[in-house]
Amino acid sequence: MNVARRLGTMPFGGDYNPEQWPRDVWDEDVRLMAEAGVTMVTVGVFSWAMLEPEPDRFEFGWLDEALDLLHRHGVAVDLATATASPPPWLAHRWPQTRLVDEAGTVRWPGGRQNYCPSSPVYRERAVGLARRMVERYAGHPAVALWHVGNEYGGHNARCYCDVSAAAFRRWLRDRHGTLDGLNEAWGTAFWSQRYGDWEEVNPPRLTPFRTRPNPTSVLDFHRFCSDELLACFLLERDVVTAGAPDTPVTTNFMVMHHFDKLDYWEWSRHVDVVANDHYVEAFDEQPFYDLAFQADLTRGFARGRPWLLMEHSTSAVNWQPRNVAKAPGQMRRDTLTHMARGADGLLFFQWRQSLVGSEKFHSGLVPHTGPRGRVWDEVVALGRDVAALAPLIGSTVRGDVAFVWDYHSWWATQTGNQPTVDLDYPDMARVLHRALVDRGVTVDFVAPDESLDDRRLIVLPTTYVLEQATARRLADAVRAGATLLVTYFSGIADRDDHVVPGGYPALLQDLLGLRVDEFTPLRAGQRVGTDAGWHGDVWAEDVVVADAEVVARFTDGPVAGGPVLTRRPHGAGAAWYLATRPDLAGAGQVLAPLLDEVGVDGIPGPAAVQRVRRSSSTGSWLTLVNHTDDAVRLDVRGRDLLTGVVADGDLLLPAGAVAVIAEG
Ligand code: GAL
Repeated sequence: MNVARRLGTMPFGGDYNPEQWPRDVWDEDVRLMAEAGVTMVTVGVFSWAMLEPEPDRFEFGWLDEALDLLHRHGVAVDLATATASPPPWLAHRWPQTRLVDEAGTVRWPGGRQNYCPSSPVYRERAVGLARRMVERYAGHPAVALWHVGNEYGGHNARCYCDVSAAAFRRWLRDRHGTLDGLNEAWGTAFWSQRYGDWEEVNPPRLTPFRTRPNPTSVLDFHRFCSDELLACFLLERDVVTAGAPDTPVTTNFMVMHHFDKLDYWEWSRHVDVVANDHYVEAFDEQPFYDLAFQADLTRGFARGRPWLLMEHSTSAVNWQPRNVAKAPGQMRRDTLTHMARGADGLLFFQWRQSLVGSEKFHSGLVPHTGPRGRVWDEVVALGRDVAALAPLIGSTVRGDVAFVWDYHSWWATQTGNQPTVDLDYPDMARVLHRALVDRGVTVDFVAPDESLDDRRLIVLPTTYVLEQATARRLADAVRAGATLLVTYFSGIADRDDHVVPGGYPALLQDLLGLRVDEFTPLRAGQRVGTDAGWHGDVWAEDVVVADAEVVARFTDGPVAGGPVLTRRPHGAGAAWYLATRPDLAGAGQVLAPLLDEVGVDGIPGPAAVQRVRRSSSTGSWLTLVNHTDDAVRLDVRGRDLLTGVVADGDLLLPAGAVAVIAEG
C-alpha cells in the first residue's frame, strides 16, 4: 500500500492543525499549499479535545469543513485518529488514567500524551473516538492514509502505577507461566528477592539508595511497556482497518537519536506503511551521519520497502536546550537524504508555525514571518524538487552490509551495574556505519531473527543478548561464504539476562576461534593504541586466541600485547572479532579488509558527499548529497532530475548541493 503510488507523487507537506487558527486563515493555507507544492497534510493529531469536548459529545463540523476544503484544493490527508493526547476531562473524571513515574509521583495533564498505556478507561475512550472518526471519514475522498495515535511512547512509555502493575503481572504470567518460572528467570535467589505470591511483584519502581531493581525485571518491564503501547495501537488499528479496509494505516515511529522505548521490529509488522519522524540534534555538528543511520534503520523496519518520512523540521525545533536553525540548504539536503535512503514521502512538522503554546518557536513550512524569506523560499523550491522525484516512487535501496540491530541488547545494557557506564548500545554501530557511509557503502539493518542467507558482509555490533538460533544463523551464513564482524560484549547473556557460562562469548567461541576471559573497560577518556596505528576507547578485554589469526594487537592499556582484531576462516567465509571501540579512522581500517574479502567497493566519491542508489525494474537513481563547503567533481553518468543537467562522466556538484541522477 504505497501512498506515493496512489497519489502519483511523493507526498510533500506536513502536520496541519486548522483548529488552532481562525477560519479565514484556512483559505490562505490552501492557497499557499498550492504555491509550495504541498500534496498531503496530516490532520487531527492533537484534536481530541476539539472533537469530543466532553465525553460522548462530538463536534465534527470543523473537521468536515477542513477536509472538504483540502480536498477541493487537491491536498490529500493523512487523517489522525486524534487519540494521542487526551483532553483534560479524562484525568479529571478518571484519575486512574494518569501516568505515574517510578518514584510513585503522579504526572499531571497540561503537557501532552498523559495517559497510562495499560488503562482500560483510556483504551476504551480512545477506541471509541477512533471508531467515530472512521465511521465518519472512511469514505472521504481526501483521506489517503490513517494515522493512529502519534509517536507512541514519546512521553508516556513507562508507567509504574497500580493499573500498570496489575497488567505487568498478567504479562509476566504469559511469559513465564508460573511463579517458579518467574523466580528462575529473574534469578531471585539473589539478594532475597524470591516471590511467593504474584501480588508481591511490581514494576521496577525506585529502590533504596545505590541499589537498582533486579535487571531482568527491568528488561521484562521494557518489553512489557513496548507491548502495552502496541496493544493500544492495535486496538485502534483494528477498528480503522475494519471501517476503512482500502486505506493504509500507519503510526509515526521515532527512529531518531536515542529513542529506545519501543521494539520497532515488532511494531513494524503491524503497520501498512512504516512512517518515521526524525529531528537532527543541534549538538551534533555533522548531523547528516546520524540522519543517514536513522534513515537506514527505518528502511530496515520497513523490511527494505519504501517508507514515509512523517515529520522533520524546516529549521530549528523548540525542545532542545539550544535550538540551532538549519543553515541555508540544509533542509533540502536532509529531506533528500531521507529520500535517497528509501523514503517515498517527505513531510514536516508543521505547516504553519504556531503563535501560541509550547511549539511557537518550532519552525514550520510557513514561518512567523509569513510566506516570504529564506525558509519559505526553500520550502517552495523543495516542493518542486519533490515533484520531480516521481520516477523513483516504489524503488528500493539494497545495502551491501547487514547490521544486526537488537532492542533487547539495548535494553539489557541499560539496566545498570554493567562493566562500564560508557557502553552505549548504538555507539559501535554508529562508528562503523559512519565509516561505511564515507566509503559510499550502504548498510541494511536486520532483525536478529531475520534470514542472513544472501548477506555477504554481516556486522554484529555489541549485541549483548544473543539467542542460540541467531548464533546458529550467523555461523551458517559464515560457513556459506559470508564475512562476519562481531564486536566486544556480544553474545554475553541469554534472553533472561543470564550470563552464558564458559568464557565469553559462549555461543560464538567456536566460530570466532577465541575466548574472552576478562573485561578490562577503560577509564573515562582513556584511549588505547593498537599496532595497526588506530586507537580505541571505552573498552578492552583479555582475548585468548584458540584458533584465529591475530590481525592487530593492543599496544598499551590494561591488556597491552593482547589481540584486538582477529580473523578465523570458517567454511567458505570468515569470522572477525574486534575487542575495543575504534575511532573513526580505525573503523575504516578495520572494515577495509572485510570489504575487500567480499568484493564490495562502494560508490566512489569523497567522504562527505553521501552516495546512495535506489533502483527498480524501470531504472536506477544515484543521489549525491554534498555536505562539504567545496564543489566536487564526480564520475557519474546520467540526467539530474533536479536540474535537468546531463552528466557524462564529470558532474560538478556545487558546495551543499544535491543531485539525483537518473542513470543509464
Ligand atoms: C514530534 C511530534 C510533533 C511535534 C514535533 C516537534 O515529537 O510528533 O507533534 O511536537 O515533535 O519537533
